[in-house]
Amino acid sequence: MNLMNVDYSTQIPNNVGLTDDARVLKALETWHPGYIDWWKDAGPEGFNESLVYLRTAVSVDPKGWAKFDYVKMPDYRWGVLLAPAEENRKVPFGQAYGEPAWQEVPGEHRAMLRRLIVIQGDTEPASVEQQRFLGKTAPSLYDLRNLFQVNVEEGRHLWAMVYLLQKYFGRDGREEADDLLRRRSGSADAPRMLGAFNEETPDWLSFFMFTFFTDRDGKMQLESLAQSGFDPLSRTCRFMLTEEAHHMFVGETGIGRTIQRTCEAMKAAGIEDPNEIAKIRALGVIDLPTIQKKLNLHYSLSLDLFGSEVSTNAANAFNAGIKGRFQETKIADDHRLTGDIYPVLKLVDGVIRRVDEPALTALNMRLRDDYTVDCGKGVERWNKIIEKTGVKFKLELPHVAFHRQIGEFKTVKASPTGELLDDAAWNKRKDEWLPSKADGDFIAELMKPVSEPGKFADWISPPKVGIDNKPGDFEYVKIAE
Ligand SMILES: [Fe+2]
Ligand SMILES: [Fe+2]
Repeated sequence: MNLMNVDYSTQIPNNVGLTDDARVLKALETWHPGYIDWWKDAGPEGFNESLVYLRTAVSVDPKGWAKFDYVKMPDYRWGVLLAPAEENRKVPFGQAYGEPAWQEVPGEHRAMLRRLIVIQGDTEPASVEQQRFLGKTAPSLYDLRNLFQVNVEEGRHLWAMVYLLQKYFGRDGREEADDLLRRRSGSADAPRMLGAFNEETPDWLSFFMFTFFTDRDGKMQLESLAQSGFDPLSRTCRFMLTEEAHHMFVGETGIGRTIQRTCEAMKAAGIEDPNEIAKIRALGVIDLPTIQKKLNLHYSLSLDLFGSEVSTNAANAFNAGIKGRFQETKIADDHRLTGDIYPVLKLVDGVIRRVDEPALTALNMRLRDDYTVDCGKGVERWNKIIEKTGVKFKLELPHVAFHRQIGEFKTVKASPTGELLDDAAWNKRKDEWLPSKADGDFIAELMKPVSEPGKFADWISPPKVGIDNKPGDFEYVKIAE
């Protein structure tokens, strides 16, 4: 069988030879009804009968892996897809550096590996739950379709992790797979595992920020797991990254189109000052300072996902060959890091300082730094959009000490420029830096659904090109009445 192509003869589409793996096929088929129940209960509200123009993976060949067609979301063919095996792949870092990559779970690292897979798996359905009501207020059919594409692919990412659990972790793996369907974002008794995945995604600006910032954290985590010495995990993550790129595209262009529309409306109305918030809002567009506040919120929540800057867990996972660095194989060093140092921002005697730490324990910080660089490039592209319209305003990433709940800065309050503040000063100014109730109410008011093909809500510009090269008035979703 050509493992580039996906086998659709089984109930679970796959390129992992499930027809010859009765035990795992059975386990996945047993899990499937619970998954569909979860989708109907916690997935997109109200569109399960609608026909959505979605892409489905038909191959894992980077050139031409997907086909597009109308499908009802509950009928989407969620499958198990691994990137092609790299011949003679070696463990690319850690104490086993240079040994052949593992095709089975190394016994001594079993618990750590299972935990990392479960944490990654937990984020996938969580984001679908967070976004479940957004369909009701989509600014266009184009955006509605993109939301649902992201949702079904996050569902598939859950399948990807559940496959690993069921194939390689026996009974515990099956229990973990069931628990992944039991937890719910924001639930009091069974919340999702990570903070940012229990926050609300109340409006489309949040959705775009989420797919820009939080899916990008997902990208960084997948990049470092794609380096794993455990080859099935590496291959799984490599294919997930292909899909993830679209999620970040949705976020970046969504914000870009929002900015574009705001600046054009300001120009047309002759408003020069971006801080004339009331006047700008009266135009029915989202003022740039409010976009900055949303950015501050989502960036800071996403930074928390990297964990503590200094972490022995991260060091252990690296030493074990389980979780590497961003683009590990492109880094020119010994890939063991014993004796190396890495600078970490820390709070020392009440002052923010750069302190050299052992590179091994500073791996979370390093991955977060790589993430910040990646985010910064997107922010620059947004600023270019603003600049082109002639509006004088620059979006900026806030300081990493701003609004943190995890790591070095969780006990202090800091402004977006990294100035430390006492509680009184913070409380007085926090509405300048984070979305307030009034900001949320204003945005909520703008969120009216637009479902006529080719039409867009007034607060957002149309995209430059359609999905799958479709024309501007293409009916991306045929909404069932
Ligand atoms: Fe994902
Ligand atoms: Fe994603």
